[in-house]
Amino acid sequence: MSKKIAILTSGGDAPGMNSAIRSVTLSALRCGFECIGFYHGYNGLIEQEFCSLSAHSVTDITQQGGTILKSARCPAMHTEEGVQQAANSLRKLHVDALIVIGGDGSFRGLEALWQHWQHWQGTLIGLPGTIDNDLAGCDNTIGFSTAVNTATSAIDKIRDTANAFERVFITEVMGRHNGHIAFHVGISCGAEAILSFENCDPNNHQAIEAQLIAAITKQQQKHGSFMIVLAENLWPGGSQALKAQLNNQTEINAAMCVLGHIQRGGAPSAEDRILATELGIAAVEAIVAGTVTTPTMIGKVQGQLLQSDIAEILQQQKPVSPQWVKRYQSYLAEL
Ligand code: F6P
Repeated sequence: MSKKIAILTSGGDAPGMNSAIRSVTLSALRCGFECIGFYHGYNGLIEQEFCSLSAHSVTDITQQGGTILKSARCPAMHTEEGVQQAANSLRKLHVDALIVIGGDGSFRGLEALWQHWQHWQGTLIGLPGTIDNDLAGCDNTIGFSTAVNTATSAIDKIRDTANAFERVFITEVMGRHNGHIAFHVGISCGAEAILSFENCDPNNHQAIEAQLIAAITKQQQKHGSFMIVLAENLWPGGSQALKAQLNNQTEINAAMCVLGHIQRGGAPSAEDRILATELGIAAVEAIVAGTVTTPTMIGKVQGQLLQSDIAEILQQQKPVSPQWVKRYQSYLAEL
C-alpha cells in the first residue's frame, strides 16, 4: 500500500542531516511512497509549509552541511494549541509517517504530538541528529563526528600559534551541558587540560584554577604551549573569565578562542554521512514493517541498529564514559 512520509529537521542543525533526508527520500521512493519535507522544523509542520521530495531534490546534498529543509526551534510546540495544529496538519495532509531528525528537544515534540496523533493514525520516528552526542540509545548522533573533526582541525591551527608564542590557549567548544565534544576533541588534540562537566565541579573552580596554574608552570618548563579545551557553559564567566584569571599570574600569557558555530557547519564527515544514510534506510524499513507503535528513535549501538522508545530515551542520560574520564585524568597527572 502506498504511504506518505514526511521529514523535518529540528533544533540545532548538525552536519549529516542532509544525508539522512536523502536516504529517507530515496528509500521511500524505492518503496513507491510519496515523500514530503516540512521547512523550518515543527514551524513548517504547523504552518503546512512543505515541499515534495524527489530523487532530483536530494541529488548532491549528502556532502553539504546544514539542512536543505532548514531548521528552527519551535516555541509553539510547547503549547497545547501548537501541538494540536501540528497534528491537524498531519491529518489534513494525509501523512502516514513523520520522521524527525534532531535532538532531545525535537524528540519531546514527537512525544507531545503523540498525544494527538496516535499510532492508528500514523508512525512517529526520531533519528538522532545533534553535534552534542547527548542522546542515549545510540553510540553517536548524526553530526558529532564532523563537529569533533572540525574542532580538532581548528585547535591544531591554534596550537601552531600557541607554540610560536609559547602561550597558554583556552579553546571553548560546544556541547551544551555535557562533555562529549570536549573530551573527544581534547584527546584528539593532545590538550594538556580538558575542563568539562565530568571532571570539574564548577563550584570548586578556585581549586581547579590552582591545579591548572601548577600544571601550566610545570609544563612550560618542558615546552611552550599549554592547550586547555573548555566545555561551554562550565566555567563561571566562560573562557574570557578563565583567561583573565590565568593572566592574573604574571608569568602566564593566556589567550582564548570560542569555536562556536563553526562546529555545526561544514561538509559532514564520511562517518556522519554513512551513519545518517543507514538510519534513514532503517527508518523507512521500520515504516514498511509496520511495527512502530509509539514514538521510536532509531540509533546504532555497537554496530547494531536499535529501536528505542523515545519516552525512555528522554529519561536517560548519556554521560561521557567514566573510565575514559579516569584514564585521561591519570594521563594529565603525568605532566
Ligand atoms: O545543541 C546543539 C548546540 O550547538 C549546542 O552545542 C549549543 O549549546 C547550542 O546548540 C547553541 O544553540 P543556538 O544555535 O541556538 O545558539
